[in-house]
Amino acid sequence: MISGRALVWAWLAFAGALLVVRAVGASMSGDEEGHRGDIHSYARPGLARVTHVALDLAVDFHAKVLKGSATLTFERPPGAPADAPLVLDTKGLVIEGVTRPDLRGGGAAQGVGQPVPFEPGKNDPILGAPLSITLPADATSVRIAYHTTADSTALQWLTTRDSNGRLSPFLFTQSQAIHARSWIPLQDSPAVRVTYEATIRVPELWTPVMSAEHDDPPGIVHRQTVYRFRMSHPIPPYLIALAVGDLSRQELGPRTGVVAGPGVIKAAAQEFADTETMVKAAEARYGPYRWGRYNLLILPPSFPFGGMENPMLTFATPTVIAGDKSLVSLVAHELAHSWSGNLVTNATWSDFWLNEGFTTYIERRIIEDLYGTRRAAMERVLGMRELRDELKSLPPRDQVLHVDLAGRDPDEGMTRIPYEKGALFLTTLEQAFGRARFDAFLRAYFDHFAFQSITTKDFRAYLRAHLFTQDEAAAQHIDLDAWIEQPGLPEGYPEPDASAFAPVDAAASDWSAGRRTAAQLDATAWSTQEWLRFLQSLPATLDAGKMAELDGSFHLTDRGNAEVACQWLTLAVRHGYKAADARLDSFLTTIGRRKFLMPLYTELLTTPAGGVKARALFAKARPFYHPIAVESVEKLLSKKPPQEP
Ligand code: BES
Ligand code: ZN
Repeated sequence: MISGRALVWAWLAFAGALLVVRAVGASMSGDEEGHRGDIHSYARPGLARVTHVALDLAVDFHAKVLKGSATLTFERPPGAPADAPLVLDTKGLVIEGVTRPDLRGGGAAQGVGQPVPFEPGKNDPILGAPLSITLPADATSVRIAYHTTADSTALQWLTTRDSNGRLSPFLFTQSQAIHARSWIPLQDSPAVRVTYEATIRVPELWTPVMSAEHDDPPGIVHRQTVYRFRMSHPIPPYLIALAVGDLSRQELGPRTGVVAGPGVIKAAAQEFADTETMVKAAEARYGPYRWGRYNLLILPPSFPFGGMENPMLTFATPTVIAGDKSLVSLVAHELAHSWSGNLVTNATWSDFWLNEGFTTYIERRIIEDLYGTRRAAMERVLGMRELRDELKSLPPRDQVLHVDLAGRDPDEGMTRIPYEKGALFLTTLEQAFGRARFDAFLRAYFDHFAFQSITTKDFRAYLRAHLFTQDEAAAQHIDLDAWIEQPGLPEGYPEPDASAFAPVDAAASDWSAGRRTAAQLDATAWSTQEWLRFLQSLPATLDAGKMAELDGSFHLTDRGNAEVACQWLTLAVRHGYKAADARLDSFLTTIGRRKFLMPLYTELLTTPAGGVKARALFAKARPFYHPIAVESVEKLLSKKPPQEP
């Protein structure tokens, strides 16, 4: 939720952006423009379309800057005017110069390419600024020399201490949804797929990794190590990713591995030992894994997400290393994106549910294949609970799968709706047409649209032609508009089977009603999922004494499992359980994952005293959070504080 004032500003800025785009070319529809109606990009790929990005970047940890160039290969689609400008997206970049690398410059600049006129546009707080480059008809590539700034929202520069207490720098990018433009000038729309290559120059000792294949061994030039990378499949720009730090790799299987710093690599390799089996399980259902290797990069705890499906190299939060493999559904999820998302991609951010709903559905199928129906059912039930909770607080227009994001940051579409309502829709289809048919349909869908970016409309057409025609009677019962275009949940949605939670539910209600004390509950064998269910099932009001009773028996304040800790700390704040204050402080100042920050800060903000505490904690934690997390928390804190009663 954002404030009315912020909305007005966002809208004004957005309208301004539209004017800029309009000025470039008259009255083309989204499809003619070549970006499938992507309102979050200034690019005009219908006029000139980037197909390949070649980066040459030096990583400067002292200045906290990436500096170098991006050489873009582009083509002019049939029918496009031969002199139309190439329009790129940028955000927080300093453009130093634009040249044609295929033509030599004259005079002192000889050999560096002929300068080309370019015009930076007006900056918008969400979209950044367009960069219009005027090129003659015979040009096929252009080189942009640039550097990043403190406003490059994709980047987090960190100084962390390694296991020996030595300071060691770390850099990582987060390009989804529209942050790629903050470290690379390009056409930042998921409908504009590119191949890429990169030359990355880092100070000796540190290792860069990317969402790509790498050539080793690296060369050493001027005390810098030079690494080269290549992604030869066309991918949407939000999947271009880089991390640099004290990293090494440990193999998990013939094509799987973990990449991490020295302090966590052993624990990570144990936690994610099932990764190769997951790849095989997904392949058996959805067709070959087409990206070669699958590595997991374990990031510092300030990584703002649980995971990010960068191809060949999933980025993951260390908070899923629970010690008991209980949070590996995150790996199943990011791996599933190798089909839904990376192979078949949402063409615009309004189609985001095509990425996340399919992925959440597949994630649970992988969990079922590896760990059985009981575990999968529990995770479906927990997901359903999150969906119901969020439906209570979201305005109707944000309860829609095919969401309208006009004037808004696409990061705001990241609710449980695309994930859980999307997965529930696919489960509805699965149940209506039968698993065998639905699995075959999905597999064919991935083959049909492989390496393409598609809209909700494309999916609907394919669904009708290839699934609905197989069983007209079953199709009768599916209300596509209700599922895709309307708020809430359609009638007759499938309720996940909660019977596996029956003993936990009984324990929660017995304890709540005073029939059993905490000490009398047999919780010794409960899994993470069962603990989460228990904590969700407690009464809406609890006094500090009851909280202390639970803590005394189950040591919840000291739990290392970040999911359980987050839920427990949320309850601690809600019910004024002061004994957890120190843990709350350390949790919020050492973990920067948005999923945990948001509910905790939100809970704090429900009282004036909590608000004061939230601001103090944020002031302390802020230098450690990624810019994306900072922005989300700031948005929360800027809302009107609760009034004294
Ligand atoms: N692609 C998303 C993360 C994302 C979405 C980043 C939108 C930026 C904008 C990723 O696959 C994801 O969904 N991560 C989840 C974990 C998952 C297990 C539900 C997360 O980070 O919470
Ligand atoms: Zn996802």
